[in-house]
Amino acid sequence: MKKYLIKTYGCQMNVHESEKLAGILENMGYQPCDKNEDADIILFNTCAIRESAEQKIFAHIGELKKIKAANRNLIIAICGCMSQQDGYAQNIVKKFPFVDIILGTHNISELQSFIEKRQNTKKKVVDIKETEDISNRDLMPKKRTSGINAWVNIMYGCNNFCTYCIVPYVRGREVSRPIIAIKQEVEELVEQGYKQITLLGQNVNSYGNDFADSDVTFANLLKELDQIDGDFRLTFMTSHPKDISNEVIDIIANSKHIMHYLHLPVQSGSDKILKAMNRRYTAKNYLSKIDYAKKKIPDMEFSSDIIVGFPGETEEDFEGTIQLVQKVGYEQLFMFIYSKRRGTVAEKMDNQVDLATKKERLKRLIELQNQIGTKIAEKYIGKTEKVLVSDVHPKKKGFVIGTTFTNKNVNFPGDKTLIGKVVDVKITASKLTVLFGEMEG
Ligand code: SAH
Ligand code: SF4
Ligand code: F3S
Repeated sequence: MKKYLIKTYGCQMNVHESEKLAGILENMGYQPCDKNEDADIILFNTCAIRESAEQKIFAHIGELKKIKAANRNLIIAICGCMSQQDGYAQNIVKKFPFVDIILGTHNISELQSFIEKRQNTKKKVVDIKETEDISNRDLMPKKRTSGINAWVNIMYGCNNFCTYCIVPYVRGREVSRPIIAIKQEVEELVEQGYKQITLLGQNVNSYGNDFADSDVTFANLLKELDQIDGDFRLTFMTSHPKDISNEVIDIIANSKHIMHYLHLPVQSGSDKILKAMNRRYTAKNYLSKIDYAKKKIPDMEFSSDIIVGFPGETEEDFEGTIQLVQKVGYEQLFMFIYSKRRGTVAEKMDNQVDLATKKERLKRLIELQNQIGTKIAEKYIGKTEKVLVSDVHPKKKGFVIGTTFTNKNVNFPGDKTLIGKVVDVKITASKLTVLFGEMEG
């Protein structure tokens, strides 16, 4: 039996695309394996968001040199955001001559023909495209690997060009899937028993902007999907603060299935930095959206992404971020040190912040967030929460893990028969952001 191993880096978009790539490989008769030594094909689905991601991937590809020398028939393939970058495919081939196949982000649906070409011609296959017909990607088979959760793309690409970000260059312009195709996919997934549906897009709030029909909006999509019968939770990522409308918040407030959790990346609390980032909102606009959501949905939890040390960020700008983080009270924060990306506007800014300052700011922010996250978790102690059980605990025997309707992680005693069920759990303790409890009834 031929075996495959996919190594996935980066965001949920890539996690889901790896499920599609696995679908192609399984249709070709390959079975999954965990060790490099056992594989007949190793596929890297790469990310280019920060330099650290790239360095890690390069190191992992380098490790395969010996394995390839011992197994000449092994196929090594690279796809995803890193290979889509200008000039990278050529560099990878030069640096790692043992790589067999390189494809970008717009032609992953052609994986099978690339493998066959490699096997038939014995030549390297390197092909990066700039656009694609997205229906090709919709037709790809999927080998879902995320347990009770199923990812569903609602759109691809990004038009925003935040000045630090590589994504618009490697993922192309926004293209939305028709509502009817999304609805059909979600209905099928619910029927198959998936308990959580996560809609994916770089900026879900601009869903449908590329269609002439003005009724195709994210708000209308949510409304349609919420009407689907069945036992499931619906959530989505990522929202852009400039585009999220009060209407979307109102729909969540009145919905049956949509979780009370919003990931709304703010990036910075300084208007000067937000402008330089081309985010197109102010700290005040952002906070007014959060206030509206808190008013309409009092138990809503929020999370965010923050970049520290963007070019020109002064101590005062960073203080603005600290104040905003304190005002919102995020359940979770994803914090990053600004990383220069080739070809972006910010790369050429001449007021770069030194690494020591960036690290010191990151440390302060992490400390602050630890305090805030701990306090938010403590609020849950004594309450009974509806917890959707996702799996058995990976380390603690006799325990299961799950999430509240507000996306808080919970650990409690239980066994695998609970997976996929929603149970009442009395919260008795917390540690940092994680809740602990006992099942009721
Ligand atoms: N489309 C999403 C996610 C983009 S990537 C969004 O708009 O929020 C996820 C996060 O990585 C971003 O929110 C940002 O905080 C971070 N990021 C992007 N480019 C970066 C860079 N050059 N350096 C550091 N962090 C970056
Ligand atoms: Fe990058 Fe901005 Fe697009 Fe998000 S919205 S993917 S941060 S350019
Ligand atoms: Fe990385 Fe590409 Fe996602 S750059 S974060 S894998 S869109």
